[in-house]
Amino acid sequence: MSVRRTVLAAVFFSLAAPPLLAEGIAPADRRSSYDMMSADTQRLQDDETLNPGMLWVLDGEAAWERKAGPEGKACASCHADPAVSMKGVAARYPVFDRAAGRVVNIEHRINLCRARHQQTTPLAMESKELLALSTLIGLQSRGQPIITEVSPQSKASYEAGRALFSTRLGQLDLACQHCHDERWGRKLAGVPIPQAHPTGYPIYRLEWQAMGSLARRLRNCMIGMRAEPFALESQEYVDLELYLKVRAQGLKLETPGVRP
Ligand code: HEC
Ligand code: HEC
Repeated sequence: MSVRRTVLAAVFFSLAAPPLLAEGIAPADRRSSYDMMSADTQRLQDDETLNPGMLWVLDGEAAWERKAGPEGKACASCHADPAVSMKGVAARYPVFDRAAGRVVNIEHRINLCRARHQQTTPLAMESKELLALSTLIGLQSRGQPIITEVSPQSKASYEAGRALFSTRLGQLDLACQHCHDERWGRKLAGVPIPQAHPTGYPIYRLEWQAMGSLARRLRNCMIGMRAEPFALESQEYVDLELYLKVRAQGLKLETPGVRP
């Protein structure tokens, strides 16, 4: 056991374990990490003239009009005004896409449109343009409650996400659930453990000094668990996203969220 692992495990297990919960967090107890942030960070998120994520929205508006592919079509050619066509979309994603035969999140959906409707190459995960477009789309659901559901076609993906959430991973031998269902509100090395609701994505993280997707955030937690993270475009993150969105039903979307 490395020194680092010993120290981390000691910090973790010094937290008194609360009684085990059946599963998830009761709707009345659901809290966004927003509630745990300082008043300054909350104001940074709330005030659209201060929120750094709004710069990505501006880039997203430009990307929305940008023609691509042999027929020179832009997102705007088919979807016109995002304030109308994309209203409420992020609040019900991820969803099953029949033609692709799998569950897709907003980032994967954008790349399906690039391939299917613009006959062009996918945007790289975490690229400026993909984050800008997904932030612009997310903004159109800001303030709306999450209504993501499990459909007969998305059930397998939801179950895969749920299983991952309770599977022990990595050298610390912890599952997501050990922190986010059973120890939320406590501190881990000085940092409050949130309930892990994906309310703000893409987020502007002060630690990153940049915008990042939910996959990037999940990757961070896996690295923290000393586990081998999945590739950013992998279906496992979509499965986890579906599970987390259903688990967060009723909480309001905050995109672009700001996090410490
Ligand atoms: C040539 C027309 C066309 C273009 C160009 C296009 N899309 Fe689409 N888009 C569609 C169609 C049609 C659908 C419905 C699903 C399908 O048939 O693929 C769709 C679905 C979507 C959805 C899901 C909406 C929902 O209600 O679930 C999103 C998000 C989206 N597009 C974003 C984009 C973005 C961002 C771009 C530009 C990068 C883009 N689309 C370019 C035609 C287009
Ligand atoms: C050892 C405890 C621990 C484990 C295990 C853990 N996390 Fe986290 N997670 C945290 C902490 C602490 C934060 C707060 C952010 C920070 O400062 O790192 C966080 C943040 C998050 C967030 C961001 C919430 C927001 O408001 O943006 C999500 C989502 C999340 N975790 C999901 C997961 C998933 C999924 C797993 C399993 C693959 C996992 N976490 C495993 C401790 C943990």
